[in-house]
Amino acid sequence: MSYQDLLETISPDKPIFDIKYGILSAPVRHCFMVGTIWKLKQRRPAPAALSILEIGSWLGASALSFAQGLAEHNGARGTITCVDAWTAFFDEEKNSDAVHKNMQAMLSSDIAYDIFLHNINTIPKTITCQHLKGQSGALLPMLRAGQFDVIFIDADHTYAPVKRDILNAIPLLKDGGIICGDDLNLQLSECDRGLAKKSGDKDFIKDPRTGRKFHPGVTLAVDEVFGKVAAFGGFWAVQKAGKAWKIPSYKGMPVIYPRHLPQSALEDARNHLKDIVIK
Ligand SMILES: C[S@@+](CC[C@H](N)C(=O)[O-])C[C@H]1O[C@@H](n2cnc3c(N)ncnc32)[C@H](O)[C@@H]1O
Repeated sequence: MSYQDLLETISPDKPIFDIKYGILSAPVRHCFMVGTIWKLKQRRPAPAALSILEIGSWLGASALSFAQGLAEHNGARGTITCVDAWTAFFDEEKNSDAVHKNMQAMLSSDIAYDIFLHNINTIPKTITCQHLKGQSGALLPMLRAGQFDVIFIDADHTYAPVKRDILNAIPLLKDGGIICGDDLNLQLSECDRGLAKKSGDKDFIKDPRTGRKFHPGVTLAVDEVFGKVAAFGGFWAVQKAGKAWKIPSYKGMPVIYPRHLPQSALEDARNHLKDIVIK
């Protein structure tokens, strides 16, 4: 029996996400992935068939959240293109904790990729979900310019890769489209700027100014390209307006909790949402 068949046997037609390795980021951010589709549908005229590019898919949690956004707000129509290398990428000397080690092991074998395939297979068939397996730095420049309504960036979180993913993503976005991403725990104006500037090659560190942990690479790269962005619990977004970027407002966004989040992640999202002002 193949690993794919085994996953289908133990979880027929249902995605597999455990809270520790399935939903890597703060669960509340998934409400804003769903909400990003709602936000785009507020435009007049509203775009019809929406096209989403995701850079960094892991086991497919964010892809399923965007799929739920399409199901809720766009009649389950649209395309999701997932780009991921599904190969080990952490610097093991700098990331030696159990979570990084286990992710690295899942990426070194085909386990992460096979669970991703199983999970995206549960997306409604009216939505086209395709994936490109390879390095984002090589794949993105091969994609047609101006074709995506949403580009979600969530691959390597150190400075140089995030900046490269952002710069490669920009030409691919339609006017009025949204570039968004995960793990902007602090914007540059909120953290110790000096520490952030010299720590771009680190994945996750503690900011002495706020006492909070953050990804300095994401903070720096987002600030350098866009300046201040919309940020909700670590989910960030900017909207293309001609040659400029504007901070999109998510005010009025209906809060929809993605169905594929495990129960504990749903509770986490509900609690976290109480502290977030949606503006
Ligand atoms: C934080 S995880 C993505 C989580 C996913 N968006 C979710 O919400 O579940 C990062 C992913 O980026 C991928 N990745 C890291 N560097 C990459 C690169 N240079 N090119 C393509 N994929 C990469 C890893 O294989 C990993 O699956």
